Amino acid sequence: MPEVTYVATDGSERKVEVPQGRSVMHGAIQNGVRGIEAECGGVLSCATCHVYVDPEWVDRLDPPSEDEEDMLSNTAAERRPGSRLSCQIEVTDDLNGLRVQIPETQS
Ligand code: FES
Repeated sequence: MPEVTYVATDGSERKVEVPQGRSVMHGAIQNGVRGIEAECGGVLSCATCHVYVDPEWVDRLDPPSEDEEDMLSNTAAERRPGSRLSCQIEVTDDLNGLRVQIPETQS
């Protein structure tokens, strides 16, 4: 099963196995990873699942949709080059080892 690493603001890491086809947000919520709130449950209407994708991985993801781009304008923490909404990142075998950083705040 692909493994995703969530890096907290204090630098601590949580490695979580996420089933293929599920989202990076789902992996966090199912495993109690702090800092991803996902208030809308993954339907692209809250932006509280914001993460910073590790620079090494940014170009290996499908680019954000227009709707995700719009929602990325509403994140509580500053937007950075690796900003994505984790509910929109579907985990596949190719993403085994993906690293994402949790922002300081989601609200
Ligand atoms: S969970 Fe609401 S936009 Fe991702």
